[in-house]
Amino acid sequence: MIKILILFGTRPEAIKMAPLVEEFKKRKDKFDVKVCVTGQHREMLDQVLDFFDIVPDFDMDLMKPNQNLYNLTAEILTGLKPILESYRPEFVFVHGDTTTTMAGSIASFYAGAKVCHVEAGLRTFDKLSPFPEEVNRQITGRIADYHFAPTSTSKENLLKENVDESKIIVTGNTVIDALLQSVEKVSKKPTLFAEELSKELGEKRVVLITGHRRENHGAGFERICQAIKKLATVKPEVVFIYPVHLNPKVLEPVNKNLSGVENVMLIEPLAYENFIWLMNRSTVILTDSGGVQEEAPSLGKPVLVLRDTTERPEAIEAGTVILVGTDVDLIVNHTMELLENEDKLIEMSNRHNPYGDGQACRKIADFISNSR
Ligand code: UD1
Ligand code: UDP
Repeated sequence: MIKILILFGTRPEAIKMAPLVEEFKKRKDKFDVKVCVTGQHREMLDQVLDFFDIVPDFDMDLMKPNQNLYNLTAEILTGLKPILESYRPEFVFVHGDTTTTMAGSIASFYAGAKVCHVEAGLRTFDKLSPFPEEVNRQITGRIADYHFAPTSTSKENLLKENVDESKIIVTGNTVIDALLQSVEKVSKKPTLFAEELSKELGEKRVVLITGHRRENHGAGFERICQAIKKLATVKPEVVFIYPVHLNPKVLEPVNKNLSGVENVMLIEPLAYENFIWLMNRSTVILTDSGGVQEEAPSLGKPVLVLRDTTERPEAIEAGTVILVGTDVDLIVNHTMELLENEDKLIEMSNRHNPYGDGQACRKIADFISNSR
């Protein structure tokens, strides 16, 4: 049996690793698979574990309110030692660019496991944007034995860093696997949330907003909120729905600036199935999220990205997203254009999604299977 440990800690990693857990578990004749969560996130992680029916074999339960990068990194490293030393996995899978990813890959290297990096090769080549994710993924890229790159652009980035080409496998992004499986699951039975909100909204159009990036904390969030407030005033017939990330550095400015604005609904983070429903129900999405930039085009939804840089140039080239940063006028003008210019809206909605066909996890598991 080949021993595999799948390691993650935050909401987006859980969503993007869930179909990989399932894929390896299907191959139980060959693989012994265990799941370890650092608990870098808690409520937002548990929502995903519930939806995908994943019960972790190891839960480090590390999250603390308003945690900092120093403690989190140290606790992941030291906390993983006994887990890695008792289970002794041959392969450890980490995902993307969080603190869990970076510290998890170092710990796995110390334990002598082969490090498999899913969603490898995304780069802005700007250490400070996104902070600290760009450095997290570069460190993970140096350590990884196998790099599962979502696109040929991410493969090119790794080749520029002299990664051995035979260790890079282009698979598409596992987020599309998760999305397609979940859309199918959700379409069979609408949730209570979807039924109730659907009635409340009637025919009204929706602008969906999410945001959490550290480089937007402070002035960036103040400007994003100002833009939403301005839009809500000019477009009283549109409902602006914002499931607010639980990070206090996000919750506080958003609540301070936007609570009480009539057509702005501030709600708690949504369970994945409800979030997918809401993306589908929206006309335009404003976000600084990586995952949402990849998912929305599959649902035919235009995305305005509230960031100055992106590691997802494929989406810009495909015309499914526009980078607007956190400038108030840019956010307002681009959103207004999509709300008022039907041709522009249709043009952006019909673009092709560059992030895969839902087969990424199968390709990853096949590769590991054939490598032994
Ligand atoms: C983290 C990742 C970021 C990823 C994002 C996804 C790092 C450095 N950052 O950022 O790359 O895009 O997750 O959302 O790895 N909190 C809760 N409950 C939760 C989750 C968070 O209360 O379920 C609050 C806590 O107060 C916590 C704080 O949010 O201390 C920050 O969480 P943290 O994981 O450090 O940072 P994120 O901004 O969530
Ligand atoms: N998401 C969710 N509920 C929400 C907001 C987002 O389930 O209320 C999902 C979304 O579909 C995507 C992921 O969470 O798959 C994105 O997470 P986040 O924006 O926190 O992180 P990022 O993708 O930027 O790393």
